[in-house]
Amino acid sequence: MAMFRIDEAKPLGRIAPEIYGHFSEHLGRCIYEGIFVKPDSGIPNVNGMRTDVVEALKEIRVPVLRWPGGCFADEYHWKDGIGPLEGRKRMINTHWGGVVEDNSFGTHEFFELCRQLGCKTYINGNVGSGTVQEMSEWVEYMTFDGVSPMAELRAKNGHAAPWRVDYFGVGNENWGCGGNMTPGYYANLYRRYQTYVRCYNHDAPIKKICGGPNVDDVKWTKKVLKTCFGHPQPEDVHGFMDGLSLHYYVHPGGWKHKGSALEFTEEEWYATMEKALYMEDLIRLHGDVMDKYDPEKSVGLIVDEWGAWYDVEPGTNPGFLYQQNTMRDALVAAVTLNIFNNHCDRVKMACIAQMVNVLQAVLLTEGPKMIKTPTWYVFHMYRDHQGAQALPVKAEGVGAVGGSKMPAVQVSASKLEHGGILVTAANLSMTDSQTVRLDLGRTAESASGVLLTGEAHAHNTFDAPEAVKEQPLAVTVVDGAAEFELPPCGVASVCLT
Ligand code: AHR
Repeated sequence: MAMFRIDEAKPLGRIAPEIYGHFSEHLGRCIYEGIFVKPDSGIPNVNGMRTDVVEALKEIRVPVLRWPGGCFADEYHWKDGIGPLEGRKRMINTHWGGVVEDNSFGTHEFFELCRQLGCKTYINGNVGSGTVQEMSEWVEYMTFDGVSPMAELRAKNGHAAPWRVDYFGVGNENWGCGGNMTPGYYANLYRRYQTYVRCYNHDAPIKKICGGPNVDDVKWTKKVLKTCFGHPQPEDVHGFMDGLSLHYYVHPGGWKHKGSALEFTEEEWYATMEKALYMEDLIRLHGDVMDKYDPEKSVGLIVDEWGAWYDVEPGTNPGFLYQQNTMRDALVAAVTLNIFNNHCDRVKMACIAQMVNVLQAVLLTEGPKMIKTPTWYVFHMYRDHQGAQALPVKAEGVGAVGGSKMPAVQVSASKLEHGGILVTAANLSMTDSQTVRLDLGRTAESASGVLLTGEAHAHNTFDAPEAVKEQPLAVTVVDGAAEFELPPCGVASVCLT
């Protein structure tokens, strides 16, 4: 039996709702078709945003959305995406399929989408091919409330009131697609560019995100932080750097031969689980360096790209990164979100890549049809962790899987605002069911649960959209503790009082 002792008395801290964030790039069919269909489309929409997609995203309470990239961000020139549609410049999306980008989804459309979702906004600026002036004017355009050239231009384009930018990323992957920079060079650019990300709304200052490492590149983290926090030392970390990004993707077969999303062996299942669990090592690795410069943990680790990345679905554009989503992806999401909850002292935001039709998407679309993926269900089952107090959990008697490298069951727990305790559990075994016992150290008054289960390869299609969906979970209280059976590849969400 896998036993978990949950300590209600010593919360680890608040789980930032932003840990459940999303990422939408101008890549393949994420923005265009997936989210935005233009107002005159036959697909029901509000101001161009697909109604089915917006409604499904509201159900999982998207807390924050990152846009416009990704690699696209460092090629994006925001002035191309404002003003009358017919005048908007066309460009080649060189990173993603070499297709023509018509800029019909730009700044105004992004804020409209976030308005409809009711989520926070995370804009990623262009350091790789953009100027300081361009970045500074974008911030002025979006947030200045007064008389200024950019505020006037915004009003001329139909939006007199400023918007609220919650987060601003100063470049993306500047060690790679964002300019192939060295860490010292980027860090100096960060110092310079962030200076001009002005705070015009003192009631809601923009939080600035510095471009952090790829996977385990701790040299990048060390050099960037040393340069940023070196001479002259910024007087106050707030307003200078609020977050450091980390990008990590799970490629079961490695970067070159990632493997199929739908066809995989038991060996590949466990390789995927092991790589998903590796997120915890990465948080510790980079967190230790961050602790040196920021012992107060004022700078959040912002995992603004994570998820499983496989070979594209056969027959689809290789530059569009379209992949199916199975119970294996549900497990990747469940394990990763549990890790973030358990490290909520350092991880302050995370954005799954990407929201619709790209990589580990929560939704897939085909013309007017839309399906929820197993990953969507995990976000749905975990949604009450947002803003809750993470609780420490001690595991006892948990078996191992995958050649004894991994725990069979992995969990996280939180105390909800309205009372009650939410425990989310993932069974990493591809073949064996596990009996799980949750002990609060007192008699549980009530216990109820929801389960996502299916064979490892199970997934939803446009013909069978509900092959995988949530179902009730039988939870019983035995000698004061909650017990339930977690099937192989199962994810459970249990609420205890
Ligand atoms: O999410 C796809 C790409 O992965 C992003 O554009 C880039 O930042 C990362 O390499």
